[in-house]
Amino acid sequence: MSKIAFIGGGNMASSIIGGMLANGFQPEQICVGNRGAEKCQRLQQTYGIATTSDNHAAVAGADIVVMAVKPQVMGAVITDLTRSIGPDAVVVSVAAGIQLSNLEEWLGEDRAVVRVMPNTPSMVRCGAAGLFANKLVSDAQKASIEAIFNAVGISCWVDDEAQIDAVTAVSGSGPAYFFLMMETMQKVGQELGLSEQVARELTIQTALGAAKMASTSEHNTTDLRLQVSSPGGTTRAAISTFQSLDVEDTFRQAMESARNRAREMAEEFAK
Ligand SMILES: NC(=O)c1ccc[n+]([C@@H]2O[C@H](COP(=O)([O-])OP(=O)(O)OC[C@H]3O[C@@H](n4cnc5c(N)ncnc54)[C@H](OP(=O)(O)O)[C@@H]3O)[C@@H](O)[C@H]2O)c1
Repeated sequence: MSKIAFIGGGNMASSIIGGMLANGFQPEQICVGNRGAEKCQRLQQTYGIATTSDNHAAVAGADIVVMAVKPQVMGAVITDLTRSIGPDAVVVSVAAGIQLSNLEEWLGEDRAVVRVMPNTPSMVRCGAAGLFANKLVSDAQKASIEAIFNAVGISCWVDDEAQIDAVTAVSGSGPAYFFLMMETMQKVGQELGLSEQVARELTIQTALGAAKMASTSEHNTTDLRLQVSSPGGTTRAAISTFQSLDVEDTFRQAMESARNRAREMAEEFAK
């Protein structure tokens, strides 16, 4: 049974730990090092796991160290911990914009390191995470790390670190694209005469239903769209309007902006 330490016990760590415990991990496997006592106490009470405000004590004997502090403090926190993390442990960072080369530099020696880009639906166990490992991460370590992130959704390994910026553009920032679409559908639904509550309920259920169909159907999303777009029908009229306004290019530009910003942030944190 591997021992897993989390450094930083905020929103992301708490969501992941909740998912892990619901998926067969044992409370005795997990220890959280968090700066403030209040969060330590809350995590201990909620999950029955060990917590400490001493990061060195948290990582002692850990097989997997998940770094879940904000990107701005990651360098200082990791550098301080290097001597306490065991030589055979794998270090996993969920921090947006922190590159593997920075993590390797801070850790100071040849270490197994994994960079993960999770997303906020991890909080409701429907997360989507992209993972990239350096060459020192073993297959067994990869399997253990996958199990951690699969406990709050799905995880996909990418084979080139640059693809983490694409993961950021698709799933990292992606929930907000759907929120924007739902926000707009609700608003226009009201303009077309529905009450706020009815517009909201119909929009959310439609988003859920579409996602469920897309994830369970044997057909791809193009086929699913064409199946509900009969000639002369209402859906076809709406889709034609979207296409005449070049919605594909709008998405391309928006997602390229997210990818470019991810690259810029990585450069800023690397300085
Ligand atoms: N939330 C998301 O959806 C999301 C998505 C993708 C990636 N991420 C990444 O996940 C990481 C954590 O984000 P979050 O949303 O969970 O932030 P958060 O809720 O602010 O959690 C950060 C935690 O780090 C603790 N901390 C700060 N300095 C520390 C130190 N020196 N030693 C130990 N603990 C320390 C804080 O403790 P106190 O509050 O007690 O000071 C806080 O509990 C970030 O790097 C972020 O980029 C988050």
